[in-house]
Amino acid sequence: MQEVLPEGGVIRKLWIGETKKYRDHVLRLDPESRRNRFAGGVSDEFVRNYVDLTSGLDAVVHGFFIGRVMRGAAELRPLGSKFPHEAEAAISVEKAWQSHGVGSALLRRTLLAARNRGFRLLHMACLADNRRMQQLARKFDAELTFDFESAVGEVESSRPTPLSLMRELMSDSHSFATAMLDLQTRILRA
Ligand SMILES: CC(C)(COP(=O)(O)OP(=O)(O)OC[C@H]1O[C@@H](n2cnc3c(N)ncnc32)[C@H](O)[C@@H]1OP(=O)(O)O)[C@@H](O)C(=O)NCCC(=O)NCCS
Repeated sequence: MQEVLPEGGVIRKLWIGETKKYRDHVLRLDPESRRNRFAGGVSDEFVRNYVDLTSGLDAVVHGFFIGRVMRGAAELRPLGSKFPHEAEAAISVEKAWQSHGVGSALLRRTLLAARNRGFRLLHMACLADNRRMQQLARKFDAELTFDFESAVGEVESSRPTPLSLMRELMSDSHSFATAMLDLQTRILRA
């Protein structure tokens, strides 16, 4: 899987203990990007609580890193046992790194993770004027249904296959052991 990322950039899953990197990334988003990320204006305190909650959930977070600094994130949050095949996805890229293919690469990783966990429906909430996110979702054949102030993109993700599992492992070469354990747990649970 060939990805063209800004020079020096890598995408990998967030490791345990890296919550602060994720939190700092979200706090650094410019006001418009933060509003778009959360479909409305939110305070720093909200962001801190949100990120803390994510680390306590069964969420999969991919980060876009330049060196040790996280400049982009894609989050996959299961909706819970009542909706075992559904999850929520959200993406953020800091302004200086937007429009360089990072969002597309992050969404591609997230769709792969979703597929390998058996999620068939991904919810993406974004404001109706967030053209960029809508364009991005369309690249992955999202079907967008417009609601009052928001658009909800529902991306059908296909079933896991040995190849899709392998592709996820290969793209996790930075954390091979962790990914192996993670996948084994999920396969055993399924
Ligand atoms: C939406 C967001 C994640 C996209 O990330 P990105 O790295 O800029 O995305 P990409 O560079 O991969 O571009 C994706 C598509 O968006 C569109 N796009 C890119 N730059 C654009 C611009 N300046 N204006 C309009 N559309 C643009 C293009 O269709 C592009 O696909 P293409 O390059 O194949 O033509 C990013 O802008 C962001 O973090 N925004 C703030 C948070 C947010 O809106 N999150 C989504 C809600 S969950």
